[in-house]
Amino acid sequence: MRGKFITFEGGEGSGKSTHAATLAHRLKSYGIGVELTREPGGSPGAEIIRHVLLSGAAQAFGPDAEAILFAAARADHVDTRIEPALAAGRWVICDRFTDSTRVYQGALGRVDGRLINGLQRLTIGNLMPDLTFVLDVPAETGLARAAERRGKAVADRFESETGEFHESLRAAFRALAASDPARCVLIDGSGTREEVSARIWSIVNSRLHPVTAPISLEDAAS
Ligand code: TYD
Repeated sequence: MRGKFITFEGGEGSGKSTHAATLAHRLKSYGIGVELTREPGGSPGAEIIRHVLLSGAAQAFGPDAEAILFAAARADHVDTRIEPALAAGRWVICDRFTDSTRVYQGALGRVDGRLINGLQRLTIGNLMPDLTFVLDVPAETGLARAAERRGKAVADRFESETGEFHESLRAAFRALAASDPARCVLIDGSGTREEVSARIWSIVNSRLHPVTAPISLEDAAS
């Protein structure tokens, strides 16, 4: 049976990476085969493009070029990692996916919707996530968390945008979640780590029924 595909979306410091990892760990404890991955990156080719994007090297070419590079990275990630894992019955948990392009490059970068739609068709075809968590925290909280995590390292291409950009980002993610309630669940990410992960787990349970999913023999043996 094909695996399930779950993505985490949200602004900077919204807790996606932590909750993606916690969910992966929980699913594994039920014997489910899990692939935990992230974008941009997630495959060797896509990690190279990640470096170009997050260093800001592509910024001078404008948001269209950045959208095309995110799409190139995604195409490689989907072909070499996500699709093979799902086809093998593994569950894939991805920290950011196509909704990030829609929000960062589309809503905020003002890349034409036709280009965004075309790139999406080209890179993922019909592969939409079964479930998407949109983690919502005030921009101020998210930026403070991101700065704490970063320590002395310099802010990346998107972290160094203005406070106004991050407020708009939050609004765009909220709008996105509201536009597709069958797939997206908006999660208040400002509670404790335990509270938020409990909310996420209860939704995964009620929507995708992992506890009754067949156990992957490969993972049960490891
Ligand atoms: P990352 O260090 O992974 O940050 P985060 O923990 O916030 O996810 O950097 C990813 C950055 O790339 C993030 O600022 C969002 C941006 N991004 C896009 O602009 N478009 C995309 O399609 C994707 C996947 C990410």
